[in-house]
Amino acid sequence: EKGNHRHFMEKEIYEQPEAISHTFAHYMDFVAKTVRPVAQPIDFASIDGLKIAACGTAFLAGHIGKTWFERYARLPVEIDIASEFRYREMPMTDREAALFISQSGETADTLASLRYCKENGLKIGAIVNVQESTIAREADVVFPTLAGPEIGVASTKAFTSQLAVFASLAILAGRARNTLTLEQESEMIQAATHAPRIVGSVLHAIQPQLEELSRELSKYHNVLYLGRGTSYTLAMEGALKLKEISYIHAEAYAAGELKHGPIALIDENMPVIVIAPHDRHFDKTMSNMQEVAARGGKIIFITDEAGAAASSMKTLSTVALPNVDEFIAPLVFSIPVQLLAYHTAVFMGTDVDQPRNLAKSVTVE
Ligand code: M6R
Repeated sequence: EKGNHRHFMEKEIYEQPEAISHTFAHYMDFVAKTVRPVAQPIDFASIDGLKIAACGTAFLAGHIGKTWFERYARLPVEIDIASEFRYREMPMTDREAALFISQSGETADTLASLRYCKENGLKIGAIVNVQESTIAREADVVFPTLAGPEIGVASTKAFTSQLAVFASLAILAGRARNTLTLEQESEMIQAATHAPRIVGSVLHAIQPQLEELSRELSKYHNVLYLGRGTSYTLAMEGALKLKEISYIHAEAYAAGELKHGPIALIDENMPVIVIAPHDRHFDKTMSNMQEVAARGGKIIFITDEAGAAASSMKTLSTVALPNVDEFIAPLVFSIPVQLLAYHTAVFMGTDVDQPRNLAKSVTVE
């Protein structure tokens, strides 16, 4: 039931503090400040590569997972959209493992990719929300997301819970591969424990501003999202969410790609949503934002307090989130991206929970 919410999507957006906190609690021992040894038979210490495949939003969770595995565990990750992955005929060795991500656990291309890796002798892990699903049954090890049932077609709490699983597994792998110190591990776990509370406060703090902004956004036919690093992934997630529920055409680009083509689109009719916390990428993204501003693009700047203070550029709107540890920033920055899509769709009067032409679970190719 929807409770006081207008749509399941809205309810599920607001359930995220709980979903993230349950998921972290499943993987992390907050007292010992360690991640529980949940990965067997995948041995993170001995593998020399990880393959990841999924579809849609689950793929984007994997995209952030790749960044974390590579940065914190020095584990090379190859990731692809499942419908491409399954036909690539890529070389595989038994020194690799594979991870598949699926809310429903029934997505046809993801399942086919899983079977393909299994036939090639890889150990299989599955991050799934529906524990009784086919993908869960066929995996060697299941990494559950504890998001509870997700009804809205647009994935929200499943996504942030998938990120929570990846965060946990990256720490576990970093520990196994001796690439994280005990101190780093405990700092990352400390950051994770704060995430649900921060997500909860951000949800309430920015909702009115984003609802207001959605009125403006709904006037346009095209929207561009830009970001770097994990914010590039969130740009893709923002564009996916906006197009699937509001039917506004949206595209995401890595900010550095702007001058390789999409900058030609920029004029006063092009809103550009720039996602840029004050992190290692900030200055570079700011110079891209400057290029957009110089061409009259309408900027919606999603940043943190430090980023807002460091920029004096004129924007249509600046959304300033609290400064948070870089490790949990993707969890926190998912919130404005989801709320903006949600309110724009509500404003446009589309069927938010059941967008046209879409199904919650895609069981055919
Ligand atoms: O059930 P799955 O996680 O395997 O579904 C994958 C995609 O179909 C799904 O994430 C889709 O992209 C969502 N509608 C996005 O909001």
